[in-house]
Amino acid sequence: MTACTREFDAWIRSSFCEINSQLETLYWQQEDKANVEDVGEVLKQQLQAEGTELIKTLVVEGNTDEGFDNAFDLLGNVGLYMAACRRHEITEPSRERTSPLVEASTLAMHIGASIGVTPRFATAHLTTHNTAVNGVYKRFTDLADEKIFVDYNTKGILAYKRAADALLKILPLGVSHPITGDLLKVAKYALQDVIDSNQELFDKLDTDRFFYCVRPYYKPHRVGSQVYRGANAGDFAGINVIDMLLGLCVANEPSYSQMLVDKFLYMMPEDQQILRDCMRRTSLMDSFLNLESQHSASWYQENVTLFLEVCELHGKGATQHHNQLVEKYIAQPSNSMAEQHLDKVTASGPPLSVLLGSLEKLRDRRAANQRDDIFTRYHDIQKLKTTLSR
Ligand code: HEM
Repeated sequence: MTACTREFDAWIRSSFCEINSQLETLYWQQEDKANVEDVGEVLKQQLQAEGTELIKTLVVEGNTDEGFDNAFDLLGNVGLYMAACRRHEITEPSRERTSPLVEASTLAMHIGASIGVTPRFATAHLTTHNTAVNGVYKRFTDLADEKIFVDYNTKGILAYKRAADALLKILPLGVSHPITGDLLKVAKYALQDVIDSNQELFDKLDTDRFFYCVRPYYKPHRVGSQVYRGANAGDFAGINVIDMLLGLCVANEPSYSQMLVDKFLYMMPEDQQILRDCMRRTSLMDSFLNLESQHSASWYQENVTLFLEVCELHGKGATQHHNQLVEKYIAQPSNSMAEQHLDKVTASGPPLSVLLGSLEKLRDRRAANQRDDIFTRYHDIQKLKTTLSR
């Protein structure tokens, strides 16, 4: 890490977080908590000026070949700064044609293009790749609810990754292997961990704090001339590895593959590789269906039973995400939000109703619910169930 990079990191961990926190206090005191106009202007100017000053020296320093980890980390820091400027409407993509944060855009585009990711902060920067210093990892604010949100995003992502890793290890063994059952059990426990951790998040996170003080840092913003969507907890390969290896979602269905195409550059390069590889594989569901004639074998009975339990838990997790988390923290508060702020609610940009519709489809695919309008594995799951002797 160069001296300039260290200085910028120290600023993100101190003044940056303090200024954002002070601004959140001011916004929170208003009757219309979503308003940021004409509030805390001196603080906003301080944030922009201090950040730009530090970034200028980094642009001059250029790409100093400090290795992937340092480059990715620095991109995260520039990204946090740009996202905070968007949150405080120092920048606003519909108002501008290119980002007024010229130096930050320059640095972000340079790093993003050189390491093969989007030139903005991604979920990994705040969750799985966020080094703690003396117990504290990088955050936008010192608000307890932001910490709760990020802690449980990290837990959820790591648990999904554990499930995905276990399923990937089945591929070279095959579905009839005596140890495949052990791996299906690992996937089961990991998906149960996701469900338990999401339930804790649901119980602990305050709706208004999340909606008004945390979520706004995840809005789309411009880097250079292009608008990049906000980060979300789904920007890692594991969730889709589970979808496709179980066979609940298929990569040759346009709306699902569209989502994959759109998310590639929001993931770490190693995740991009895993996902690409996984898109070419035969799912476990298809493998079991192809071996239906062997249904009386004990391996079949044991492994299909476990496989169906894994599918059920994946569906349960997706249903919980949609019916509890999205409903409580996005859909309901949006209904009561002042009209003029509504267009800025989602992290991905499309209108809320469109976003909710596509998340609902994902839920129903993962839960293999019966639907007439989209392809789900409802009938195949029923078919496998009929081959079980108990
Ligand atoms: C995507 C809401 C926590 C996993 C999304 C999206 C929303 C959302 C609205 C759509 C993306 C967008 O806005 O552009 C929430 C809320 C949460 C929460 C309100 C908590 C307060 C989590 C957690 C996980 C998770 C803890 C577990 C890892 C995902 C995944 C996606 C996603 C995988 C990508 C779409 C998909 O494949 O389902 N979330 N989320 N979310 N979220 Fe969450």
